[in-house]
Amino acid sequence: MSKPSILVARAIFPEVLAQLREVFDVDYNEADDIFTPAELSRRLQGKVGALTTGSERIDAALLQANPQLKVVANMAVGFNNFDVPAMTAAGVQATNTPDVLTETTADFGFALLMATARRVTESEHYLRAGQWTKWRYDMFAGAEVHGATLGIIGMGRIGQGIARRGSHGFGMNVVYHNRSRLSPELEAECKARYVSKQELLQTADHVVLVVPYSAESHHTIGAPELALMKPTATLVNIARGGIVDDAALAKALAAHQIAAAGLDVFEGEPAVHPDLLKVPNVVLTPHIASATVKTRMAMAQLAADNLVAYLTQGKALTPVNT
Ligand code: DGY
Repeated sequence: MSKPSILVARAIFPEVLAQLREVFDVDYNEADDIFTPAELSRRLQGKVGALTTGSERIDAALLQANPQLKVVANMAVGFNNFDVPAMTAAGVQATNTPDVLTETTADFGFALLMATARRVTESEHYLRAGQWTKWRYDMFAGAEVHGATLGIIGMGRIGQGIARRGSHGFGMNVVYHNRSRLSPELEAECKARYVSKQELLQTADHVVLVVPYSAESHHTIGAPELALMKPTATLVNIARGGIVDDAALAKALAAHQIAAAGLDVFEGEPAVHPDLLKVPNVVLTPHIASATVKTRMAMAQLAADNLVAYLTQGKALTPVNT
C-alpha cells in the first residue's frame, strides 16, 4: 500500500525527517527556501499533511486549491500564519507546539530584558570597535533589574514563566495585564498583581510583551502607549512582530522617550525597520527565543508526532481547532 504524501515545508532535524519518511511519502524542502503562496499551493498538490513554520500562510485560497489537505502541523506555539476559521471550515486540522518551549522562551525573555537594561550589546560593540580607552563612572550605566517593577503584557504560560523568574529570582515587583485575570492561586504563585494596561505602562521599569498576535493585539504598543512609559523604562518584545509599531518605537528610542528596547520579533521579519538599525539603544535578535537545541528538537518532534497521530489515528496531540 502506498504511503500518504506530506510536505515538510522548511528544513528540520534529519532524525525527525527520517521518522516521517518511515510513515509518509515526504516532499522535503531541503533548500529551505521560503515558498511564495503560489509555490506553497503547488507543492501541496496531492498532499494530505504539511509541517510548517511561521513563514507559511495557510489561508482560504490555498485550502480551496488543495481540498485533499487534512492536517497542517506548525512547528511553533504561535499560529498567526494560519487562518484558523478557514481551516476549520475546510475540515483541516491545525496543530501547534505548546508547552515544550515555555521555559526556554521565558529564559530568553529574561536574557533580552537583562541585555537591554544593562546595555550588554551596545557596550560590546563599543569594545569591539576599539573605543574603550579608559573606565568612567557613568560608562554604559543602565537600569536596575533586581527590585525593579516588571510589567508583563500577556500572561499565558510564557508570561507566567517570566513573572516567576522576576519575582522569585530577582525580587521584582511584578504587575501584569491580560485579557482575563489569572486565578488567585496562580497570581499568588507568580507573585504577580493584575493592573490596567495604562497603569502597567505608567509604572513599570521593564515592560515585556508576550501576547499572541491577532487583529486585536496589532500595535498593542504604538506612539500613544510609548508616551505613557517612563523615560527610564525598557521594552522587550518576544511575542510577534506587529504587536509593536516598530516605526513609532524607533522614533521613541531615538528621542530617548524610553531608555531602551530588546526585540526578538519584527513587523515584516526577516526585514527589520531601517530606523531600528540606526539607534544604538536597542538589542536586536533574529526570532530565537525558543532556540535551544533541546527545545527546537522537541518542537520538531511534537509537530511530526501531530502529523502521525492525526493521519494514522485521526486525533491530533495538540490541536488548535478541535
Ligand atoms: C513560536 O513557537 O511561536 C516561536 O515564535 C517560534 O516561531
